[in-house]
Amino acid sequence: MTAIGAASLLTASASQSLAPIGLFDSGVGGLSVYQHLAKALPNERFVYFADTLNVPYGSRDSTEIQALTLSAVDWLCQQGCKLIVIACNSASAYGLTAARLTYPNLPIVGLVPALKPAVLASQSRQVAVLATKATLSGALLNQVITEVAIPNQTQVIKYFDPELVPWVEAGMPMTSSTAKRLGRQLLDFSDHQVDHIVLGCTHYPFFKAFLNAEIAKNQLAMTVIDSGQAIAERVHYLLLQSNMIAPPHQKRLQNQAPLPLAFYASKMDSHTKSLVQRLLGSKFCITFL
Ligand code: DGL
Repeated sequence: MTAIGAASLLTASASQSLAPIGLFDSGVGGLSVYQHLAKALPNERFVYFADTLNVPYGSRDSTEIQALTLSAVDWLCQQGCKLIVIACNSASAYGLTAARLTYPNLPIVGLVPALKPAVLASQSRQVAVLATKATLSGALLNQVITEVAIPNQTQVIKYFDPELVPWVEAGMPMTSSTAKRLGRQLLDFSDHQVDHIVLGCTHYPFFKAFLNAEIAKNQLAMTVIDSGQAIAERVHYLLLQSNMIAPPHQKRLQNQAPLPLAFYASKMDSHTKSLVQRLLGSKFCITFL
């Protein structure tokens, strides 16, 4: 390689490292993944696409979910993202393979419920996966059941409540019947000796504190698991491997607050804006596009 060739390659990778990471979810759920990413990768810029016009995805058919996923990934590509996280288990179940085929040169990370660590840690060999109908019937999760749960003689209880995603999108009012149903469901899991609960939808970590409080109140022996941390580690690894980690910049050296999140929603209104702000808390700064 000539010196000029090497220099232009270096410039290309330097400019790529400054490009944002794209995140996509049907709604605000993917923000639970963003929280882990922003903590693990504080120098990165993030662009978030929430398809609030079409949420929830979980009860839609596979063709529809795939088409919606491809158009969201396409939008994030147009924003110049260097890596995309499909921060939605339902969209990953039906759109991840198609997205990777459409953009073969772009790293795309998808989500699958964190069943494997739950199975490996379970003493009772009974675990429950809470997810959407789409995720529960998708190939990604069922492959983990076949390859990990069955060989470990672990029974997987699949639990689906169509009201959970709308409840989070509504800001999780505690007076709602959904909260009461969720509390009762924990007791039911306990009656079935379930010792690990997998949150297989990115909306659900927003009620993890509620679940843990119910578990403590009823003295249940249960651990709640989600995928956020593992996804942040995977993204970190991929960026290192492809030499695309963003360098620290001056502003951040003085002020350690996370960089502002660029948030775009297919249907933006004042409810969405205040919900995003509330879910992320005051530590995060958001720019609404
Ligand atoms: N956050 C999405 C997931 O992880 C929610 C799906 C939906 O919109 O129903 O599956």
